[in-house]
Amino acid sequence: MKDASPTAPQKIYLSDYQVPNYLIDEVHLTFQLAPEATRVRSRITFRPNPDATSADFFLYGEQLTLISAQIDGAPVTPTHVNGGLTCDVPSAPFVWEAEVEISPATNTALEGLYMSNGMYCTQCEAEGFRKITYYPDRPDVMAVFTVRIESDLPVLLSNGNPVTSGDGFAEWHDPWPKPAYLFALVGGDLIAHPDRFTTKSGKDVELNIYVRPGDEGKCAFGMEALKKSMTWDEEVYGREYDLDIFNIVAVDDFNMGAMENKGLNIFNSSCVLASPETSTDMNFERIEAIIAHEYFHNWTGNRITCRDWFQLCLKEGLTVYRDAQFTADMRSEPVKRIEDVIALRARQFREDNGPLAHPVRPDSFVEINNFYTATVYEKGAELIGMLKTLVGDADYYKALDLYFDRHDGDAATIEDWLQVFEDVTGRDLSQFKRWYEQAGTPRLSVDEAFADGTYTLTFSQSTPATPGQDHKDPRVIPIAVGLLGADGNEVVPTTVLEMTEATQSFAFDGLSAKPVPSILRGFSAPVILERDSDNAERAFLLAHDTDPFNKWEAGRALARAGLVEMVLNNAAPDGDYLDAVLQVLRNDDLDPAFRALTLALPSQDDLAQTLVDLGHTPDPTAIYQALETLKMAMATHMQDVLPRIYAQYQVNEAYQPDAEQSGARSLANAALALISRTDGGAAAQAQYDSADNMTQQLAALGCLIMAGKGDAATAEFYDQWKEDRLVIDKWFALQISHAAPERAAEVAADLTQHVDFTMKNPNRFRATLGALAMSPAGFHRADGAGYALLADWLIQLDPLNPQTTARMCSAFETWKRYDSDRQALIAAQLDRILATPDLSRDTTEMVSRIRAS
Ligand code: BES
Ligand code: ZN
Repeated sequence: MKDASPTAPQKIYLSDYQVPNYLIDEVHLTFQLAPEATRVRSRITFRPNPDATSADFFLYGEQLTLISAQIDGAPVTPTHVNGGLTCDVPSAPFVWEAEVEISPATNTALEGLYMSNGMYCTQCEAEGFRKITYYPDRPDVMAVFTVRIESDLPVLLSNGNPVTSGDGFAEWHDPWPKPAYLFALVGGDLIAHPDRFTTKSGKDVELNIYVRPGDEGKCAFGMEALKKSMTWDEEVYGREYDLDIFNIVAVDDFNMGAMENKGLNIFNSSCVLASPETSTDMNFERIEAIIAHEYFHNWTGNRITCRDWFQLCLKEGLTVYRDAQFTADMRSEPVKRIEDVIALRARQFREDNGPLAHPVRPDSFVEINNFYTATVYEKGAELIGMLKTLVGDADYYKALDLYFDRHDGDAATIEDWLQVFEDVTGRDLSQFKRWYEQAGTPRLSVDEAFADGTYTLTFSQSTPATPGQDHKDPRVIPIAVGLLGADGNEVVPTTVLEMTEATQSFAFDGLSAKPVPSILRGFSAPVILERDSDNAERAFLLAHDTDPFNKWEAGRALARAGLVEMVLNNAAPDGDYLDAVLQVLRNDDLDPAFRALTLALPSQDDLAQTLVDLGHTPDPTAIYQALETLKMAMATHMQDVLPRIYAQYQVNEAYQPDAEQSGARSLANAALALISRTDGGAAAQAQYDSADNMTQQLAALGCLIMAGKGDAATAEFYDQWKEDRLVIDKWFALQISHAAPERAAEVAADLTQHVDFTMKNPNRFRATLGALAMSPAGFHRADGAGYALLADWLIQLDPLNPQTTARMCSAFETWKRYDSDRQALIAAQLDRILATPDLSRDTTEMVSRIRAS
């Protein structure tokens, strides 16, 4: 049923796509900046689109006060309609001029033009430009922008190259046609951290990172990351930068991580500012990746953009894939892969398994901001990886060259994307396309047989129904397999099996004995492998697998199996697991970062889902307790080795956030976390007192809180860092994530009363309420206090910032996993949110989708 009732928010369908009725050649914008009364004058040259099926002229516009409008110089009176205006226009090319007034200072939604700490900035993706002026705000309308900014602020920036500037004004011109979502403007009292880059064809590019005074000492790492990204994209994809200048601006109040506006990337300050004293190793890795990601969008997103928002994965999936390749090259490929799979399972599998499941390319939405999801991003990136595995590296890069040649300057689709692969390889990718169209994570079960030297693997795939999609067709699944002999040597190296049927067998001949299979090496497809393997086989693979991902995966499977036994049957910690992990811990030939990942246990959320998959109702408290018991058992079982590891992996050189040092610190800190369970917090206190970098300081503080010895250090930490917003975010989050589960909701509630708590800053809000939502045992407290607290604050935030509110509603997406008491408590909160007067479209869509399950 496509017709929405008059009150229901309108659903947009991919199948309703129509080309724009009018195209634009040029846009001239003039901004007179003033906090509550910014004037925006636009001069737009329109021409009828020869391919259009209608001559109706509609411009989107929201929260704008129209001062005047003209067509070809003559005043016109447009008709205001829901979400914009219409007007009679000539049938030949014409010039539209308008002046509107907007109020950046009262824009708390952080979409369109808004203010953050006295600085003007914009966020236009996906549909924020319509809050700046009347415009065909859709990505398939691309235009050349010239922008004049009038203000007394010292730094005035927009897209493209600077044209002129003088007292109280600056002009910018972007020669590359772009959709309005890539428009950006910044005005503020900012300091530049400058640098230069010479492209491979010899073009000199000016680079700047602009920050608030006081933050200039936190730019160097981001700048290095930018230059590395520029070099990498030239070397690996042959893509050069295409303007004279590339600017990055750090903004404190930002809904997302960062935004790829042409020539003027805008970053959440948490995703660009870094120093050893204030940022953890994880922060550094993430900052490097985000800078790369936004920079890579210059080709995959900007030069080739999306025809419509259903094609979002065209730019996001591909760009996430590219930034993952970059991180793997800069750091450790196996470590990056393991981290990504952990995140994929935690966020995307969770989403795919619940009420918010949707295809990588959705076919309908109410609010596009709700579809910047783990599925579009992370699963979207997995699809690129699978394509590359299927066609091979050489053809992958050939297809990418063809994509850039053929579609440069286009607003493209997934069909265009797949076509270049078909043209380069001659393959038929129609079955592969199902990955874009079908929601849900395929389950892959395996049977094995061995006879007469032939080993046969038989796989069956099935995908559970997802909202609105009951039937699923089999997909093509690249399954990377290697076979090991009983002595641990590899008898068949990694081979990619291409599964296309619902059930399919693959035979390996000439084997002298039944091998041990290592299946789905490198996590070659985003599926759930259901294999009835025993702990002996898992321990064998953990010891011998040559594929680092599967080696880690074997340890994880072993841990999971033991924990399930502990939760369900009150079993003691599995001695075989403890021995196996101890062997890994001791093995100094293994990368310390890999060992730290192997020591880490599956998350509470992972175990809850595992129990659901096994047909049980998860008890969040029992899961938490099992993890605590196992960690204590690890601490005692490894007692002799842990101090040695802790001492051996102390870094004595000057701090570097590189893979080597951060790997050492992560292993030492994993050891510290275990040691702190048996030494009363003494080692953690010593580390806290001597720490000269945030990685060490924060890890020690976490251990002290866990050991019940954190009060003094928590207070000291605040005194030391109270002037640094990004560090104080960590302080808020850590107290909640490390609180005992029965206290987490109170700790979070108390922190919402702290002088430094504010709803207006998304980072601070997430550090507080997000940290609670991500602590399952605390959030799912049996009396519902966690649910009520989150709902209270979501209801308060919604009128100010619908986008951040809606995103955080996904805390409730797993509610059907839990017992009926908890379900009833959550349902009551969801209903309370839905009953809130004037609830935003964003939050209404999210909560109704969750509630409907
Ligand atoms: N284009 C997005 C930013 C964005 C997201 C704008 C949603 C509007 C709505 C940007 O390229 C992006 O993907 N940013 C990510 C980080 C990235 C490393 C995956 C983000 O902001 O989280
Ligand atoms: Zn992106």
